[in-house]
Amino acid sequence: METMEMLELEMVQENDAVETGWTRVCDLRDLSTGSGTCARAGGAQVAVFRISDDEFRAVQNICPHSGAPVLHQGLVGDHNGVAKVTCPLHKRSYDLTDGHNLSGEGGKIRTWPVRIQDGAVWVGSR
Ligand code: FES
Repeated sequence: METMEMLELEMVQENDAVETGWTRVCDLRDLSTGSGTCARAGGAQVAVFRISDDEFRAVQNICPHSGAPVLHQGLVGDHNGVAKVTCPLHKRSYDLTDGHNLSGEGGKIRTWPVRIQDGAVWVGSR
């Protein structure tokens, strides 16, 4: 019975994502400040970060330097008052607001809007 309820809930969430263009990533309580997680949204791997209690960012999870899906494991920090993530492999840094490369090498990364609703973190489509 519990499995049926879970399946129905998943179907509602999938339908909601299709109708609204928003994908549920995780429960808000499961994403602690300064950490990131990875989700699939709109056919892309998205890294979602909690910058503070009420500040979130979403960027592509693939680091453009090597193509490795690792940015969600990067170190969250600050660059002149702007939130950034530093790739765990070779330490290139990316602005989490507009996605530009702070290390001066390589391209910009894609960003997505994030919202909090019903105790969960959601990523929107662009
Ligand atoms: S893979 Fe990210 S900096 Fe090299």
